[in-house]
Amino acid sequence: MTGALPIGLLAEITHRCPLQCPYCSNPLQLERRSAELDTVTWKRIFTEADDLGVLQLHLSGGEPTVRSDLVELVSHCARLGLYTNLITSGVLLDRDKLQALTDAGLDHVQLSLQDIDPINADHIGGFRGGHERKLAVGSAVVEAGLPLTINAVIHRRNIGSIERLVDLAVSVGARRIEIAHAQYYGWALLNRAGLMPTEPQVLEAARQVEELRLRYAGSIVIDTVISDYYADYPKACMGGWGSRAINITPSGKALPCHAAETIPELRFDNVKDKSLSAIWHHSSAFCAFRDLDWMEEPCLSCSRKETCRGGCRCQALALAGRATAADPACVLSEFHDALRSRALSESAAAKDEFSYRRIGA
Ligand code: FES
Repeated sequence: MTGALPIGLLAEITHRCPLQCPYCSNPLQLERRSAELDTVTWKRIFTEADDLGVLQLHLSGGEPTVRSDLVELVSHCARLGLYTNLITSGVLLDRDKLQALTDAGLDHVQLSLQDIDPINADHIGGFRGGHERKLAVGSAVVEAGLPLTINAVIHRRNIGSIERLVDLAVSVGARRIEIAHAQYYGWALLNRAGLMPTEPQVLEAARQVEELRLRYAGSIVIDTVISDYYADYPKACMGGWGSRAINITPSGKALPCHAAETIPELRFDNVKDKSLSAIWHHSSAFCAFRDLDWMEEPCLSCSRKETCRGGCRCQALALAGRATAADPACVLSEFHDALRSRALSESAAAKDEFSYRRIGA
């Protein structure tokens, strides 16, 4: 049980997607179209989210624009007063669809870019012609009067493009850009050797971001997600487990984070069976790491534990073998040196190929 209420709900309304990004945050086992919640159920969930105190509703995927009921879902959220953010690759959007979403009350668009170079961008996303479409959609979003955030996942194959990505975001009229180093869970973990940047690249990227923040102060906000493998301390994943956000999968499973299903001992409730409020307050999965009493040493006696909350549970499981271990991104973890060595060796080996997967739109 918690007194805290969720601020955001990430609705993965589908796992279908025309892109094949090698760092996709969706689980290894994607849910099929036939398992997706219907319109009525999603609308009920959004109403329950509003009742629970959720303020921000993120419509995500996969690619959310493959759903034919997207305008109806946005309209429902707008009537509730939820702030709606569409997280999209943009490749299936055009001006008419964008206008319909705007008219329905959409509040914000977050558009992904894979790189500044069209050939490399399309190679990374596995979708030919995608970059050109994204640029057109970015301009159309701004012309429609919607606030635009550009999301750029950063890795070895595009880390040299940060300055030009920010320049582009400014020229398109975006209000924010997220320079987000790839997080190595799920599909990204499989592709880690092809994605891992070198340490000098990561340090140079951090220097550039600071310079760009000064250069573009007042024009654009530059948010960053750090590269865990070269960090000394982890971030509080999800702002703390079960503290700020809920993920709902296409079939209705309620998760504390997008990778939570990798933790085998957890059981997840489905919004088809229980109310969102009951799940948030009482589900064993949400309660599992919500407080800090699950911690082992060195987390248990660490003065930073309220800040990082142990880091990422899914990364701890994937790299240290236990979800209750300290996140190996932490310098106090017994696995930290191995993590760093892995990053150094994989980035030096500079593997060229990605493993792609596909669940079509
Ligand atoms: Fe699950 Fe970080 S992704 S806790």
